[in-house]
Amino acid sequence: MISIQVSLRPQSPVAVHPLLPEQKLTTSAQAITTEQVIANFLASNEHQGKFGSIRSIYMNDGTRVAFVGTGNIDKLNLQKLRSLASKTAQKLNKNNIETADVYLTELEVAGVNLADKVQAIAEGIWLGLYTFDNYQTKEKDKQTKLSSINIVIHGDESKAKQALAAAKAIAAGTIFARNLGNHPGNVCTPEYLGEQASSLAHPKLKTTVMDKAAIEKAGFTALLAVNQGSNKEPRFIIMEYRGADNDDAPIALVGKGLTFDAGGISIKPASQMDEMKFDMCGSAAVLGIFKAVIEMNLPINLLGVIPSTENLLGGAAYKPGDIITTYKGLTIEILNTDAEGRVILSDALAYAAEQKPAEIIDFATLTGACVVALGGQATGLMGTSDAIKQSLITSGQKTHDRVWEMPMFEEYQEQIDSKIADIKNTGGREAGTITAACFLSRFVDDIPWAHLDIAGTAWNMKGTDISPVGGATGAGVRLIVDYLQQKVQ
Ligand code: BES
Ligand code: MN
Ligand code: ZN
Repeated sequence: MISIQVSLRPQSPVAVHPLLPEQKLTTSAQAITTEQVIANFLASNEHQGKFGSIRSIYMNDGTRVAFVGTGNIDKLNLQKLRSLASKTAQKLNKNNIETADVYLTELEVAGVNLADKVQAIAEGIWLGLYTFDNYQTKEKDKQTKLSSINIVIHGDESKAKQALAAAKAIAAGTIFARNLGNHPGNVCTPEYLGEQASSLAHPKLKTTVMDKAAIEKAGFTALLAVNQGSNKEPRFIIMEYRGADNDDAPIALVGKGLTFDAGGISIKPASQMDEMKFDMCGSAAVLGIFKAVIEMNLPINLLGVIPSTENLLGGAAYKPGDIITTYKGLTIEILNTDAEGRVILSDALAYAAEQKPAEIIDFATLTGACVVALGGQATGLMGTSDAIKQSLITSGQKTHDRVWEMPMFEEYQEQIDSKIADIKNTGGREAGTITAACFLSRFVDDIPWAHLDIAGTAWNMKGTDISPVGGATGAGVRLIVDYLQQKVQ
Protein backbone atom coordinates (compact mmCIF):
# COMPACT_ATOMS: atom_id res chain seq x y z
CA MET A 1 0.00 0.00 0.00
CA ILE A 2 1.34 3.44 -0.94
CA SER A 3 1.55 6.15 1.69
CA ILE A 4 -1.27 8.69 1.94
CA GLN A 5 -1.27 11.85 4.05
CA VAL A 6 -3.71 14.65 4.67
CA SER A 7 -2.43 18.19 4.96
CA LEU A 8 -3.57 21.77 4.68
CA ARG A 9 -0.81 22.58 2.18
CA PRO A 10 0.27 21.18 -1.18
CA GLN A 11 3.50 19.22 -1.20
CA SER A 12 4.08 18.03 -4.70
CA PRO A 13 4.83 19.34 -8.21
CA VAL A 14 1.77 17.48 -9.46
CA ALA A 15 -1.73 18.61 -8.50
CA VAL A 16 -5.06 17.01 -9.30
CA HIS A 17 -8.18 19.19 -9.21
CA PRO A 18 -11.79 18.35 -9.91
CA LEU A 19 -13.24 19.85 -13.05
CA LEU A 20 -16.97 20.42 -12.83
CA PRO A 21 -19.38 20.55 -15.77
CA GLU A 22 -19.31 23.77 -17.84
CA GLN A 23 -15.60 24.13 -17.15
CA LYS A 24 -16.15 25.26 -13.57
CA LEU A 25 -13.38 24.87 -11.01
CA THR A 26 -13.27 24.41 -7.22
CA THR A 27 -11.52 26.96 -4.97
CA SER A 28 -7.89 25.92 -5.17
CA ALA A 29 -7.92 25.56 -8.93
CA GLN A 30 -9.53 28.97 -9.28
CA ALA A 31 -6.53 30.41 -7.48
CA ILE A 32 -4.18 29.16 -10.17
CA THR A 33 -6.14 30.46 -13.13
CA THR A 34 -3.96 33.55 -13.11
CA GLU A 35 -1.76 31.47 -15.31
CA GLN A 36 -3.00 31.91 -18.83
CA VAL A 37 -2.30 28.28 -19.54
CA ILE A 38 -5.27 27.12 -17.48
CA ALA A 39 -7.55 29.59 -19.21
CA ASN A 40 -6.34 28.26 -22.54
CA PHE A 41 -6.92 24.69 -21.46
CA LEU A 42 -10.45 25.44 -20.31
CA ALA A 43 -11.17 27.36 -23.49
CA SER A 44 -10.11 24.38 -25.58
CA ASN A 45 -13.00 22.44 -24.01
CA GLU A 46 -11.00 19.32 -24.75
CA HIS A 47 -11.84 17.75 -21.44
CA GLN A 48 -15.60 18.24 -21.11
CA GLY A 49 -15.62 17.25 -17.42
CA LYS A 50 -16.81 13.73 -18.17
CA PHE A 51 -16.90 11.52 -15.06
CA GLY A 52 -13.45 10.14 -14.41
CA SER A 53 -11.73 11.51 -17.51
CA ILE A 54 -8.33 12.95 -16.69
CA ARG A 55 -6.17 15.47 -18.60
CA SER A 56 -3.00 17.11 -17.40
CA ILE A 57 -1.30 20.34 -18.46
CA TYR A 58 2.27 21.40 -17.92
CA MET A 59 2.98 24.70 -16.21
CA ASN A 60 5.85 27.07 -16.99
CA ASP A 61 7.62 26.22 -13.75
CA GLY A 62 7.74 22.52 -14.53
CA THR A 63 4.83 21.56 -12.29
CA ARG A 64 1.90 19.66 -13.65
CA VAL A 65 -1.80 20.18 -13.05
CA ALA A 66 -4.27 17.43 -13.80
CA PHE A 67 -8.03 17.77 -14.01
CA VAL A 68 -10.37 14.92 -13.27
CA GLY A 69 -13.91 15.22 -14.59
CA THR A 70 -16.69 14.90 -12.04
CA GLY A 71 -19.69 14.48 -14.33
CA ASN A 72 -23.02 15.74 -13.03
CA ILE A 73 -22.22 17.25 -9.63
CA ASP A 74 -25.77 16.78 -8.38
CA LYS A 75 -25.16 13.07 -8.59
CA LEU A 76 -21.96 13.06 -6.53
CA ASN A 77 -21.94 10.69 -3.57
CA LEU A 78 -19.33 8.85 -1.54
CA GLN A 79 -19.08 5.99 -4.01
CA LYS A 80 -18.46 8.45 -6.87
CA LEU A 81 -15.66 9.95 -4.77
CA ARG A 82 -14.16 6.50 -4.21
CA SER A 83 -14.37 5.88 -7.90
CA LEU A 84 -12.83 9.27 -8.88
CA ALA A 85 -10.01 8.72 -6.39
CA SER A 86 -9.44 5.22 -7.73
CA LYS A 87 -9.30 6.42 -11.34
CA THR A 88 -7.01 9.30 -10.37
CA ALA A 89 -4.57 7.04 -8.56
CA GLN A 90 -4.50 4.57 -11.43
CA LYS A 91 -3.84 7.32 -13.95
CA LEU A 92 -1.07 8.91 -11.88
CA ASN A 93 0.52 5.51 -11.50
CA LYS A 94 0.23 4.74 -15.19
CA ASN A 95 1.89 8.07 -15.99
CA ASN A 96 4.81 7.16 -13.70
CA ILE A 97 4.11 10.02 -11.31
CA GLU A 98 5.57 9.44 -7.86
CA THR A 99 3.72 11.93 -5.68
CA ALA A 100 0.73 14.20 -6.08
CA ASP A 101 -1.58 16.57 -4.24
CA VAL A 102 -5.23 15.66 -4.65
CA TYR A 103 -7.98 18.26 -4.13
CA LEU A 104 -11.02 16.01 -4.37
CA THR A 105 -12.25 17.01 -0.88
CA GLU A 106 -13.22 20.39 -2.39
CA LEU A 107 -16.14 18.67 -4.07
CA GLU A 108 -19.42 19.24 -2.28
CA VAL A 109 -21.30 16.05 -1.57
CA ALA A 110 -24.78 16.47 -0.11
CA GLY A 111 -24.96 15.46 3.55
CA VAL A 112 -21.34 14.34 3.73
CA ASN A 113 -18.65 15.81 6.01
CA LEU A 114 -14.93 16.22 5.40
CA ALA A 115 -13.95 13.11 7.36
CA ASP A 116 -16.26 10.88 5.30
CA LYS A 117 -14.91 12.40 2.09
CA VAL A 118 -11.30 11.79 3.17
CA GLN A 119 -12.15 8.20 4.09
CA ALA A 120 -13.84 7.53 0.76
CA ILE A 121 -11.01 9.13 -1.23
CA ALA A 122 -8.33 7.17 0.62
CA GLU A 123 -10.29 3.91 0.25
CA GLY A 124 -10.64 4.61 -3.45
CA ILE A 125 -6.91 5.19 -3.87
CA TRP A 126 -5.78 2.09 -1.97
CA LEU A 127 -8.42 -0.25 -3.36
CA GLY A 128 -8.03 1.15 -6.88
CA LEU A 129 -4.28 0.45 -6.88
CA TYR A 130 -4.81 -3.18 -5.81
CA THR A 131 -3.05 -5.73 -7.97
CA PHE A 132 -2.64 -9.48 -7.73
CA ASP A 133 0.33 -10.66 -9.76
CA ASN A 134 1.98 -13.08 -7.33
CA TYR A 135 1.95 -15.84 -9.94
CA GLN A 136 3.37 -13.92 -12.90
CA THR A 137 7.03 -14.76 -13.17
CA LYS A 138 8.07 -12.48 -16.01
CA GLU A 139 9.74 -9.16 -15.27
CA LYS A 140 7.17 -6.80 -13.81
CA ASP A 141 7.03 -3.51 -15.65
CA LYS A 142 3.73 -2.68 -13.98
CA GLN A 143 5.25 -1.97 -10.60
CA THR A 144 3.69 0.87 -8.64
CA LYS A 145 5.71 4.03 -9.33
CA LEU A 146 3.26 6.11 -7.38
CA SER A 147 4.54 6.20 -3.83
CA SER A 148 2.53 8.84 -2.02
CA ILE A 149 -0.57 10.99 -2.30
CA ASN A 150 -1.38 14.06 -0.25
CA ILE A 151 -5.11 14.66 0.15
CA VAL A 152 -5.33 18.43 0.48
CA ILE A 153 -8.07 19.45 2.92
CA HIS A 154 -9.65 22.60 4.27
CA GLY A 155 -11.03 22.07 7.75
CA ASP A 156 -10.51 19.87 10.81
CA GLU A 157 -7.16 18.17 10.30
CA SER A 158 -7.46 15.84 13.28
CA LYS A 159 -10.84 14.42 12.19
CA ALA A 160 -9.45 13.99 8.68
CA LYS A 161 -6.46 12.08 10.06
CA GLN A 162 -8.74 9.77 12.03
CA ALA A 163 -10.76 9.10 8.89
CA LEU A 164 -7.56 8.37 6.99
CA ALA A 165 -6.48 5.88 9.67
CA ALA A 166 -9.87 4.14 9.47
CA ALA A 167 -9.62 4.00 5.67
CA LYS A 168 -6.17 2.44 5.95
CA ALA A 169 -7.37 -0.33 8.25
CA ILE A 170 -10.44 -0.99 6.09
CA ALA A 171 -8.37 -1.07 2.89
CA ALA A 172 -5.84 -3.41 4.50
CA GLY A 173 -8.67 -5.70 5.64
CA THR A 174 -10.27 -5.63 2.19
CA ILE A 175 -6.97 -6.35 0.47
CA PHE A 176 -6.32 -9.21 2.91
CA ALA A 177 -9.71 -10.69 1.97
CA ARG A 178 -9.09 -10.14 -1.77
CA ASN A 179 -5.72 -11.88 -1.61
CA LEU A 180 -7.18 -14.91 0.18
CA GLY A 181 -9.90 -15.17 -2.46
CA ASN A 182 -7.55 -14.72 -5.39
CA HIS A 183 -5.03 -17.37 -4.35
CA PRO A 184 -5.84 -20.59 -6.20
CA GLY A 185 -7.30 -23.65 -4.53
CA ASN A 186 -4.00 -25.50 -4.55
CA VAL A 187 -2.47 -22.75 -2.39
CA CYS A 188 -5.43 -21.47 -0.41
CA THR A 189 -6.35 -24.75 1.30
CA PRO A 190 -8.10 -25.20 4.66
CA GLU A 191 -4.65 -25.50 6.23
CA TYR A 192 -3.59 -22.21 4.59
CA LEU A 193 -6.72 -20.45 5.86
CA GLY A 194 -5.80 -21.63 9.35
CA GLU A 195 -2.28 -20.27 8.94
CA GLN A 196 -3.59 -16.95 7.66
CA ALA A 197 -5.95 -16.70 10.63
CA SER A 198 -3.03 -17.38 12.96
CA SER A 199 -0.95 -14.75 11.18
CA LEU A 200 -3.30 -12.04 12.51
CA ALA A 201 -1.73 -12.53 15.95
CA HIS A 202 -2.43 -9.76 18.47
CA PRO A 203 -2.50 -9.49 22.29
CA LYS A 204 -6.29 -9.02 22.24
CA LEU A 205 -6.87 -11.93 19.87
CA LYS A 206 -6.93 -15.64 20.63
CA THR A 207 -7.02 -17.92 17.60
CA THR A 208 -7.63 -21.66 17.75
CA VAL A 209 -7.15 -23.69 14.58
CA MET A 210 -8.58 -27.20 14.94
CA ASP A 211 -7.16 -29.95 12.74
CA LYS A 212 -9.10 -33.05 11.70
CA ALA A 213 -8.44 -34.94 14.93
CA ALA A 214 -9.61 -31.98 17.01
CA ILE A 215 -12.68 -31.57 14.78
CA GLU A 216 -13.54 -35.26 15.27
CA LYS A 217 -13.12 -34.88 19.01
CA ALA A 218 -15.30 -31.75 19.12
CA GLY A 219 -17.97 -33.49 17.02
CA PHE A 220 -18.26 -31.19 13.99
CA THR A 221 -19.72 -34.08 12.06
CA ALA A 222 -21.39 -32.14 9.26
CA LEU A 223 -18.06 -30.53 8.36
CA LEU A 224 -16.46 -33.99 8.41
CA ALA A 225 -19.16 -35.38 6.09
CA VAL A 226 -18.43 -32.76 3.40
CA ASN A 227 -14.70 -33.30 3.91
CA GLN A 228 -14.97 -37.06 3.17
CA GLY A 229 -14.40 -36.58 -0.56
CA SER A 230 -11.23 -34.57 -0.10
CA ASN A 231 -7.68 -35.71 0.56
CA LYS A 232 -6.97 -32.47 2.37
CA GLU A 233 -7.71 -32.13 6.07
CA PRO A 234 -10.49 -29.77 7.13
CA ARG A 235 -9.98 -26.94 9.59
CA PHE A 236 -12.29 -25.33 12.12
CA ILE A 237 -11.05 -21.86 13.06
CA ILE A 238 -12.17 -20.00 16.18
CA MET A 239 -11.09 -16.41 16.79
CA GLU A 240 -11.83 -14.44 19.93
CA TYR A 241 -11.08 -10.72 19.92
CA ARG A 242 -11.51 -8.88 23.21
CA GLY A 243 -11.54 -5.13 22.67
CA ALA A 244 -14.23 -4.45 25.31
CA ASP A 245 -15.15 -5.64 28.79
CA ASN A 246 -14.64 -9.31 29.37
CA ASP A 247 -18.29 -9.99 30.14
CA ASP A 248 -19.73 -8.20 27.09
CA ALA A 249 -21.32 -10.85 24.85
CA PRO A 250 -19.39 -10.89 21.55
CA ILE A 251 -20.71 -10.37 18.05
CA ALA A 252 -20.20 -13.65 16.22
CA LEU A 253 -19.01 -13.59 12.61
CA VAL A 254 -19.27 -16.91 10.78
CA GLY A 255 -17.77 -17.44 7.31
CA LYS A 256 -18.05 -20.26 4.76
CA GLY A 257 -14.53 -21.48 3.98
CA LEU A 258 -14.98 -23.85 1.03
CA THR A 259 -11.53 -23.63 -0.54
CA PHE A 260 -12.79 -25.41 -3.65
CA ASP A 261 -16.31 -26.52 -4.50
CA ALA A 262 -16.50 -29.07 -7.30
CA GLY A 263 -20.02 -29.93 -6.19
CA GLY A 264 -19.03 -33.36 -4.90
CA ILE A 265 -20.86 -36.41 -6.32
CA SER A 266 -23.53 -33.97 -7.59
CA ILE A 267 -20.70 -32.55 -9.68
CA LYS A 268 -20.86 -29.07 -11.20
CA PRO A 269 -20.55 -28.44 -14.95
CA ALA A 270 -16.96 -27.79 -16.13
CA SER A 271 -17.63 -24.28 -17.37
CA GLN A 272 -16.43 -21.69 -14.83
CA MET A 273 -15.82 -24.34 -12.22
CA ASP A 274 -12.45 -22.62 -11.66
CA GLU A 275 -14.36 -19.77 -10.03
CA MET A 276 -15.27 -22.10 -7.19
CA LYS A 277 -11.87 -21.33 -5.68
CA PHE A 278 -13.72 -18.21 -4.49
CA ASP A 279 -16.11 -20.33 -2.42
CA MET A 280 -14.12 -19.40 0.70
CA CYS A 281 -14.84 -15.67 0.34
CA GLY A 282 -17.18 -15.73 3.34
CA SER A 283 -14.26 -16.80 5.50
CA ALA A 284 -12.04 -14.21 3.77
CA ALA A 285 -14.55 -11.50 4.74
CA VAL A 286 -14.43 -12.63 8.38
CA LEU A 287 -10.62 -12.61 8.39
CA GLY A 288 -10.50 -9.21 6.63
CA ILE A 289 -12.91 -7.76 9.20
CA PHE A 290 -10.78 -9.09 12.05
CA LYS A 291 -7.69 -7.55 10.47
CA ALA A 292 -9.36 -4.13 10.17
CA VAL A 293 -10.91 -4.26 13.64
CA ILE A 294 -7.57 -5.15 15.23
CA GLU A 295 -5.85 -2.31 13.40
CA MET A 296 -8.57 0.15 14.44
CA ASN A 297 -8.49 -1.18 17.99
CA LEU A 298 -12.31 -1.11 18.12
CA PRO A 299 -13.71 -1.46 21.65
CA ILE A 300 -15.91 -4.48 20.92
CA ASN A 301 -15.78 -8.23 21.44
CA LEU A 302 -15.84 -10.47 18.39
CA LEU A 303 -16.11 -14.21 17.92
CA GLY A 304 -15.01 -15.53 14.52
CA VAL A 305 -15.95 -19.04 13.39
CA ILE A 306 -14.77 -20.55 10.11
CA PRO A 307 -15.47 -24.11 8.95
CA SER A 308 -13.16 -24.98 6.07
CA THR A 309 -12.89 -27.88 3.66
CA GLU A 310 -12.92 -28.75 -0.03
CA ASN A 311 -16.00 -30.32 -1.63
CA LEU A 312 -14.66 -33.01 -3.98
CA LEU A 313 -15.53 -36.44 -5.31
CA GLY A 314 -14.04 -39.77 -4.35
CA GLY A 315 -14.74 -43.22 -3.05
CA ALA A 316 -15.31 -41.88 0.44
CA ALA A 317 -17.29 -38.79 -0.57
CA TYR A 318 -20.71 -38.15 0.99
CA LYS A 319 -23.54 -39.01 -1.38
CA PRO A 320 -27.06 -37.97 -2.30
CA GLY A 321 -29.39 -39.91 -0.01
CA ASP A 322 -26.95 -39.96 2.90
CA ILE A 323 -28.34 -38.85 6.22
CA ILE A 324 -25.86 -37.12 8.48
CA THR A 325 -26.08 -36.08 12.09
CA THR A 326 -24.81 -32.59 12.82
CA TYR A 327 -22.94 -31.16 15.82
CA LYS A 328 -26.26 -29.82 17.11
CA GLY A 329 -27.86 -33.25 16.81
CA LEU A 330 -30.28 -32.37 14.00
CA THR A 331 -30.20 -34.82 11.09
CA ILE A 332 -29.84 -33.75 7.44
CA GLU A 333 -30.96 -35.71 4.42
CA ILE A 334 -28.47 -34.93 1.67
CA LEU A 335 -30.29 -34.53 -1.63
CA ASN A 336 -27.54 -32.66 -3.44
CA THR A 337 -23.90 -32.78 -2.35
CA ASP A 338 -23.41 -29.39 -4.05
CA ALA A 339 -25.50 -27.73 -1.34
CA GLU A 340 -22.52 -28.22 0.97
CA GLY A 341 -22.11 -24.67 2.26
CA ARG A 342 -25.21 -24.84 4.46
CA VAL A 343 -24.07 -28.27 5.70
CA ILE A 344 -20.71 -27.08 7.03
CA LEU A 345 -22.25 -23.81 8.27
CA SER A 346 -24.73 -25.81 10.34
CA ASP A 347 -21.94 -26.90 12.68
CA ALA A 348 -20.31 -23.45 12.74
CA LEU A 349 -23.59 -21.64 13.48
CA ALA A 350 -24.58 -24.16 16.16
CA TYR A 351 -21.16 -23.76 17.78
CA ALA A 352 -21.43 -19.96 17.59
CA ALA A 353 -24.95 -19.98 19.08
CA GLU A 354 -23.72 -22.17 21.93
CA GLN A 355 -21.28 -19.41 22.94
CA LYS A 356 -24.29 -17.13 23.59
CA PRO A 357 -23.11 -14.18 21.49
CA ALA A 358 -25.14 -10.96 21.35
CA GLU A 359 -25.77 -11.61 17.67
CA ILE A 360 -24.57 -13.73 14.76
CA ILE A 361 -23.78 -12.52 11.25
CA ASP A 362 -22.74 -15.09 8.68
CA PHE A 363 -21.11 -14.63 5.27
CA ALA A 364 -21.36 -17.24 2.55
CA THR A 365 -21.11 -17.67 -1.20
CA LEU A 366 -24.14 -19.82 -0.65
CA THR A 367 -26.42 -19.94 -3.69
CA GLY A 368 -26.26 -19.52 -7.45
CA ALA A 369 -29.88 -18.36 -7.14
CA CYS A 370 -28.66 -15.23 -5.35
CA VAL A 371 -26.44 -14.39 -8.34
CA VAL A 372 -29.48 -14.76 -10.58
CA ALA A 373 -31.62 -12.55 -8.33
CA LEU A 374 -29.26 -9.69 -7.51
CA GLY A 375 -26.26 -10.02 -9.81
CA GLY A 376 -23.11 -8.35 -8.57
CA GLN A 377 -24.74 -5.20 -7.24
CA ALA A 378 -25.99 -6.34 -3.85
CA THR A 379 -25.44 -9.03 -1.27
CA GLY A 380 -28.53 -11.01 -0.31
CA LEU A 381 -29.69 -10.19 3.22
CA MET A 382 -31.87 -12.44 5.36
CA GLY A 383 -32.21 -13.21 9.05
CA THR A 384 -34.25 -13.02 12.20
CA SER A 385 -33.33 -9.60 13.58
CA ASP A 386 -34.92 -6.51 12.06
CA ALA A 387 -32.56 -4.29 14.04
CA ILE A 388 -29.43 -5.93 12.60
CA LYS A 389 -30.88 -5.98 9.10
CA GLN A 390 -31.84 -2.30 9.21
CA SER A 391 -28.36 -1.29 10.40
CA LEU A 392 -26.76 -3.43 7.70
CA ILE A 393 -28.89 -1.74 5.04
CA THR A 394 -27.76 1.67 6.30
CA SER A 395 -24.08 0.66 6.43
CA GLY A 396 -24.43 -0.85 2.99
CA GLN A 397 -25.66 2.42 1.54
CA LYS A 398 -22.86 4.40 3.16
CA THR A 399 -20.04 2.05 2.20
CA HIS A 400 -21.55 1.00 -1.15
CA ASP A 401 -20.96 -2.58 0.03
CA ARG A 402 -24.69 -2.94 -0.51
CA VAL A 403 -27.22 -5.47 0.71
CA TRP A 404 -30.79 -6.21 -0.34
CA GLU A 405 -33.29 -8.00 1.83
CA MET A 406 -35.17 -11.11 0.78
CA PRO A 407 -38.15 -12.33 2.79
CA MET A 408 -38.04 -15.28 5.17
CA PHE A 409 -41.78 -15.94 5.49
CA GLU A 410 -42.31 -19.02 7.64
CA GLU A 411 -44.06 -20.85 4.79
CA TYR A 412 -40.68 -21.16 3.05
CA GLN A 413 -39.49 -23.36 5.92
CA GLU A 414 -41.74 -26.22 4.72
CA GLN A 415 -39.64 -26.56 1.57
CA ILE A 416 -36.79 -28.06 3.60
CA ASP A 417 -38.84 -30.48 5.70
CA SER A 418 -37.63 -34.04 5.14
CA LYS A 419 -39.73 -37.19 5.26
CA ILE A 420 -37.01 -39.33 6.79
CA ALA A 421 -34.66 -36.86 8.54
CA ASP A 422 -35.16 -33.56 10.35
CA ILE A 423 -34.38 -31.42 7.30
CA LYS A 424 -33.12 -31.84 3.77
CA ASN A 425 -30.27 -29.84 2.30
CA THR A 426 -32.13 -28.49 -0.73
CA GLY A 427 -35.55 -26.93 -0.98
CA GLY A 428 -36.09 -27.29 -4.71
CA ARG A 429 -35.70 -24.74 -7.48
CA GLU A 430 -38.03 -22.11 -6.08
CA ALA A 431 -36.64 -19.40 -3.79
CA GLY A 432 -33.29 -21.18 -3.55
CA THR A 433 -31.55 -18.33 -1.73
CA ILE A 434 -34.31 -18.11 0.86
CA THR A 435 -34.62 -21.84 1.53
CA ALA A 436 -30.83 -21.98 2.05
CA ALA A 437 -31.26 -19.26 4.69
CA CYS A 438 -34.18 -21.22 6.20
CA PHE A 439 -31.81 -24.18 6.55
CA LEU A 440 -29.26 -22.02 8.38
CA SER A 441 -31.98 -20.58 10.64
CA ARG A 442 -32.45 -24.04 12.19
CA PHE A 443 -29.01 -23.78 13.80
CA VAL A 444 -28.92 -20.32 15.38
CA ASP A 445 -31.44 -20.90 18.21
CA ASP A 446 -32.90 -17.57 19.32
CA ILE A 447 -29.73 -15.53 18.89
CA PRO A 448 -30.46 -12.41 16.78
CA TRP A 449 -29.05 -13.38 13.40
CA ALA A 450 -28.40 -11.99 9.93
CA HIS A 451 -27.25 -13.96 6.92
CA LEU A 452 -25.34 -12.43 4.01
CA ASP A 453 -25.33 -14.40 0.75
CA ILE A 454 -22.30 -12.94 -1.05
CA ALA A 455 -22.40 -15.37 -4.00
CA GLY A 456 -22.86 -12.50 -6.48
CA THR A 457 -20.70 -9.86 -4.82
CA ALA A 458 -17.62 -11.73 -3.54
CA TRP A 459 -15.87 -11.71 -6.88
CA ASN A 460 -16.17 -9.97 -10.21
CA MET A 461 -14.21 -11.29 -13.15
CA LYS A 462 -14.46 -8.03 -15.10
CA GLY A 463 -13.40 -5.84 -12.20
CA THR A 464 -15.14 -2.74 -10.87
CA ASP A 465 -14.22 0.94 -10.42
CA ILE A 466 -12.60 0.29 -7.06
CA SER A 467 -11.67 -3.33 -7.68
CA PRO A 468 -10.00 -2.98 -11.06
CA VAL A 469 -8.33 -6.39 -11.18
CA GLY A 470 -10.89 -9.06 -11.94
CA GLY A 471 -11.29 -11.42 -8.99
CA ALA A 472 -12.16 -11.23 -5.32
CA THR A 473 -13.67 -7.90 -4.22
CA GLY A 474 -13.46 -8.18 -0.43
CA ALA A 475 -17.26 -7.86 -0.18
CA GLY A 476 -18.50 -7.63 3.40
CA VAL A 477 -15.43 -5.99 4.91
CA ARG A 478 -16.40 -2.34 4.39
CA LEU A 479 -20.01 -3.18 5.25
CA ILE A 480 -19.33 -4.83 8.60
CA VAL A 481 -16.52 -2.54 9.74
CA ASP A 482 -18.93 0.39 9.30
CA TYR A 483 -21.67 -1.59 11.06
CA LEU A 484 -19.31 -2.22 14.01
CA GLN A 485 -18.10 1.40 14.04
CA GLN A 486 -21.72 2.60 14.31
CA LYS A 487 -22.18 0.39 17.38
CA VAL A 488 -19.37 2.05 19.31
CA GLN A 489 -20.18 5.63 18.36
N1 BES B 1 -20.87 -22.29 -3.84
C1 BES B 1 -22.10 -22.63 -4.47
C2 BES B 1 -22.95 -21.41 -4.78
C3 BES B 1 -22.46 -20.52 -5.91
C4 BES B 1 -22.68 -20.90 -7.22
C5 BES B 1 -21.87 -19.32 -5.63
C6 BES B 1 -22.27 -20.06 -8.24
C7 BES B 1 -21.48 -18.48 -6.67
C8 BES B 1 -21.67 -18.86 -7.97
C9 BES B 1 -22.92 -23.53 -3.54
O1 BES B 1 -22.18 -24.44 -2.81
C10 BES B 1 -23.83 -24.32 -4.42
O2 BES B 1 -23.34 -25.07 -5.21
N2 BES B 1 -25.14 -24.14 -4.27
C11 BES B 1 -26.08 -24.82 -5.07
C12 BES B 1 -27.23 -25.22 -4.20
C13 BES B 1 -28.24 -26.11 -4.90
C14 BES B 1 -27.61 -27.45 -5.21
C15 BES B 1 -29.44 -26.26 -3.99
C16 BES B 1 -26.55 -23.87 -6.18
O3 BES B 1 -26.73 -22.68 -5.90
O4 BES B 1 -26.66 -24.33 -7.31
MN1 MN C 1 -21.79 -26.20 -3.83
ZN1 ZN D 1 -20.26 -23.91 -2.32
